[in-house]
Amino acid sequence: MTAFGRSIGKFALLCAAVIGLTGPAHAEDGYDLWLRYRTPATTSSALKIEARGDTPTLRAAAEELRRSNLFATKAPTILLATATDRDVAALRLPLAALGDEGYRVGYVTLGNRRTLLVTANTDRGVLYGSFALLRHLQTGGSLDRIDLTSTPRVKLRVLNHWDNLDGVVERGYAGASLWDWWTLPDFRDPRYTDYARANASIGINGTVLNNVNAKAESLTAPYIAKAAALADIFRPYGIKVYLSARFSAPIELGGLKTADPRDPAVGRWWRAKADEIYRAIPDFGGFLVKANSEGQPGPRDYGATHADGANMLAAAVKPHGGIVMWRAFVYADTDPDDRAKQAYDEFKPLDGRFADNVVVQVKNGAIDFQPREPFHPLFGAMPRTPLMIEFQITKEYLGFATHLAYLAPLFAKTLDAQTGTAPGATVARVVDGSLEGHRLTGMAGVANIGDSRDWTGSPFNQANWYAFGRLAWDPGLTPEAIAREWTAQSFGRDPQVMRTVTDMLMRSREAVVDYTGALGLAHLMATGHHYGPAPWVSDLKRPEWNPVYYHRADRGGIGFDRTKTGSNAVAQYAPALAARLADPRTTPESELLWFHHLPWDYRMASGQTLWETLARRYDRGVDTVAAMRREWEALRGRVDPQRWAKTATFLAVQEREARWWRDASLSYWMSVNHLPLPAGMAPPAHDLDWYKQQRFPFAPGNPQ
Ligand code: GCU
Repeated sequence: MTAFGRSIGKFALLCAAVIGLTGPAHAEDGYDLWLRYRTPATTSSALKIEARGDTPTLRAAAEELRRSNLFATKAPTILLATATDRDVAALRLPLAALGDEGYRVGYVTLGNRRTLLVTANTDRGVLYGSFALLRHLQTGGSLDRIDLTSTPRVKLRVLNHWDNLDGVVERGYAGASLWDWWTLPDFRDPRYTDYARANASIGINGTVLNNVNAKAESLTAPYIAKAAALADIFRPYGIKVYLSARFSAPIELGGLKTADPRDPAVGRWWRAKADEIYRAIPDFGGFLVKANSEGQPGPRDYGATHADGANMLAAAVKPHGGIVMWRAFVYADTDPDDRAKQAYDEFKPLDGRFADNVVVQVKNGAIDFQPREPFHPLFGAMPRTPLMIEFQITKEYLGFATHLAYLAPLFAKTLDAQTGTAPGATVARVVDGSLEGHRLTGMAGVANIGDSRDWTGSPFNQANWYAFGRLAWDPGLTPEAIAREWTAQSFGRDPQVMRTVTDMLMRSREAVVDYTGALGLAHLMATGHHYGPAPWVSDLKRPEWNPVYYHRADRGGIGFDRTKTGSNAVAQYAPALAARLADPRTTPESELLWFHHLPWDYRMASGQTLWETLARRYDRGVDTVAAMRREWEALRGRVDPQRWAKTATFLAVQEREARWWRDASLSYWMSVNHLPLPAGMAPPAHDLDWYKQQRFPFAPGNPQ
């Protein structure tokens, strides 16, 4: 060996040593999500898996079990089989109630052999059962005692990708779109399969590939072929593909003069388009539509209703078994009334007028995915129409990918809300159809996924993807149970790590509410990109684009009067609830300024003034983030260095930005109310002008 060769050799050894210390490249970058299968570190060589039938879905299930190393030397024989299998049928298990997607996993005796049976009525159910088995083991469940039975409560469990055809993800903070539209349909990135595995593992069974602000080109032959390639990859994992449809496509692509849903030529164009899509994607799920909202075309352009538009599209996909998810996120640019009331005013009169393959997709709150919003009044107002709930998993208003904010408490709080229309009527029971007897039910989550190695821009954002899927499967799961599951699978079961991470997750979203604006304030963020505070903005063209429209702060007080003396939005809720919300004393403190305009010296239940309470919430938010940083610091060495360091850095950014929110907001409120800061509180670091001058060109996720 030459001297050069020897020094190269030494260098390689050194590298190997360094890699040995820090783990192999990419090993801990978060790519594996919660499918890490690292504990316990045993081999699966003894594993015997028998799949009855050679379908792609059963193969995927078997591969997933093989891929894991969760079965120690006493690995059982695992049988994957559907209810129609002769041996399974002979066992006479009560499987009918499992429906199409439920599963049962448990030991049975077949011949004389103790066998771990994963069974269901369909292959998809067997796949879900296999993932449930893996979850059981990853979270510390015993291999000897297994009895897992579950059926999803919600039928459509769907991600909405706000991905544009140029690769930009609207409100995406995790890199570019996962879909490489340019190289599709030829190149089928293995990552697409990993995406499908991750989704199947939490029960997600649909994905809308393109942005709700849709381009008509998504419906052209080349893009249909690209969508079909993705559908082929996702199919074995039980995931259907949907497309956002631009309502004016018949004009843009078909050369028609109109997109009026009542025009027979328009209906014919959509039927032909649907036929074309179904030829390429026989199990195509259907269309998602944003119409007459924020400049998008829609039936209202022609004096037709949302029901007319939805039903026309529904007729096009109906012969193929498809559905239409029609969004209720509408607000007119001409309406001077409260924006929070508009979706209800527009949609409630249409209750019962939608075709049976239409589901109306309603955001969790009436404004727009704020850190906290009361539940959308439509959930108590359209009993004759199936309503899907739409959550935002990506954190447009909660600190982008950098801030740690676990959203399961937000999701669960909305789902658990009592609509007041009947005893026990909750949003969850509207969404799962049980309250009003709807079979077409769904939950949509605006995805936080991009092409960054860790998929979601930070290890902790993965928890929100995970939690969405788990809650869509079972809206009754608690955020804490989901947090524990996710932590065990993502970071292992070291008790200190489990305790700390779960605790951080559970406190995190409330901290964001505190430092961005508590007590029911909303929409206080900067214009366009929505990054950082700007409660002072008042010069945008339309009133409801301006933060001042939402907080209405003046020398006398703060908050939006939505009672009778104001917009009377409270009247959109069921009478008893409306009566409670009409009185500040019976309105939850967390929603106080959403519904009421109150003087700064209003006495809260605690005896403190409103101003003091609000001001101190900013400090509480900052303090919580500082505490999370300290807790995470204590995990150094207990969590792999790569994910630990990224999280530590992001928490430092979050603390800095929480202070920024605090200081900018307090400066502004003081410029309005001319009150001193409550005793002992530190003054803002800069004057108000400094905060007003901050600019963030090219902030991610903002459509230019
Ligand atoms: C928000 C968001 C937009 C998005 C819209 C929607 O307004 O900022 O980017 O298009 O919601 O849900 O349609």
